[in-house]
Amino acid sequence: MSEAVELDPAEAKMWITVTINGSKGTYLVDQRLTLADFIRKQVGLPGTHLGCEHGSCGACTIIMGDKAVRSCLLLAAQADRESIETVESLAEDGVLSPLQEAFHANHALQCGYCTSGFLMSLVARLREGPIESEAQAREALSGNICRCTGYTGMVAALMSLPTPNGQSGGAQ
Ligand code: FES
Ligand code: FES
Repeated sequence: MSEAVELDPAEAKMWITVTINGSKGTYLVDQRLTLADFIRKQVGLPGTHLGCEHGSCGACTIIMGDKAVRSCLLLAAQADRESIETVESLAEDGVLSPLQEAFHANHALQCGYCTSGFLMSLVARLREGPIESEAQAREALSGNICRCTGYTGMVAALMSLPTPNGQSGGAQ
């Protein structure tokens, strides 16, 4: 019969250095701490939400490097020497970003629980190029789940964004 492995508490922690919303910091983290729990509880940024906690709903989406990622599926240790962005980075001095304004103006949220994940997924997508059609908007929204408001307002919000050529569908 195999014996239970006892973890040495001193070895179950590690130091990570991570840039969060432009501020670089060093943190002592439990090696098994998820990135979502690190952001919410240790860093104190509660805008990243947890829904399913197994990679399906997208509520926990943040940007790491230049990619939208599910923070419930990553460990804080995996963010070592990375740069991450959370929903708290979008508004500046209390002024909403164009994407947040578009969500507000088009009634693109109801309870809002899913919204931070949608916003961060869309920020990453819009950095790749403008969203120029409803089909592209629906594709951009397809990785996240909203349980209460439906997607029509979010599509309208994306179609209302200005593009570099003055048409709708583009800026963050
Ligand atoms: S909480 Fe991470 S994908 Fe649902
Ligand atoms: S607005 Fe409630 S889950 Fe999306």
